[in-house]
Amino acid sequence: MGKEMARRRLPALQALAIQGLSFLIVLVVARVLASQSQFHLTIGMAALLQGVTAAAVSRLCRMPPWWLILQFLFAPALLAAQSLQLPSWIYLAIFLSLTALYWNVYRTQVPFYPSGPAVWRAVSELLPPERGLRFVDIGSGLGGLPMHLSGIHRDSHFAGIELAPLPWIISLLRGRIAGNRSQFLRGDYNRLDLSAYDVVFAYLSPAAMPDLWRKAQAEMRAGTLLLSYEFPIPDAPPDIIKTTFDGAPPVYGWRIPRA
Ligand SMILES: C[S@@+](CC[C@H](N)C(=O)[O-])C[C@H]1O[C@@H](n2cnc3c(N)ncnc32)[C@H](O)[C@@H]1O
Repeated sequence: MGKEMARRRLPALQALAIQGLSFLIVLVVARVLASQSQFHLTIGMAALLQGVTAAAVSRLCRMPPWWLILQFLFAPALLAAQSLQLPSWIYLAIFLSLTALYWNVYRTQVPFYPSGPAVWRAVSELLPPERGLRFVDIGSGLGGLPMHLSGIHRDSHFAGIELAPLPWIISLLRGRIAGNRSQFLRGDYNRLDLSAYDVVFAYLSPAAMPDLWRKAQAEMRAGTLLLSYEFPIPDAPPDIIKTTFDGAPPVYGWRIPRA
């Protein structure tokens, strides 16, 4: 992986490096101010300066806008959390819960956020009429979509694959409790053979789409359908654009052509 590619794929590491650099800049500024004008930065001012510096450097590095907000808030939020004097196990519990929810997101760049019934209805209407379809939601989160579809299309097979342990276990339990026939696999969809499915649904992120398109073209059978909610594939005009509800993003669809 080239340096530029690594930088774009691992923005969390880049953000961390920028925080480190900003910390050094703030240290130098604090020392210069103290020695030249006897002015001593308070810890609150230093945290604010760290936030402004980190956001400015992130902007120079052309990080996306939401990263600038995170970079600005990081040091002030740490300071605020420390001033609450919470027992230390709370930090561990929060850390473990977030890790189980956002597993590997620094690598995949696909965080967890669920779709809802309007999207599920749109996907249901896009399914081909054949019986015995095989459908997979790659990155299935809490499993809402496969469970919804298997309640409507009773003669087809619905599956989800999810990398993060917490949403996966919730989807598994929800399925069992509701007596739903959907299958929930735990794993990385990059290792799943897409040739086994007639319809592949993705609700991922812009960063994931180019690799997904390469994988779909290499593995999916001719005539099968790739669907993506919200995120189009760069330079691959969709065959289908289906509105979900007013003002919301559509579901895009690509029919896999014959090789
Ligand atoms: C935006 S959420 C969508 C959840 C679900 N499809 C829905 O519509 O509600 C994306 C999910 O993909 C999962 N994910 C990201 N990369 C993955 C990978 N390589 N393999 C499997 N799941 C992945 C994330 O953990 C997250 O739960």
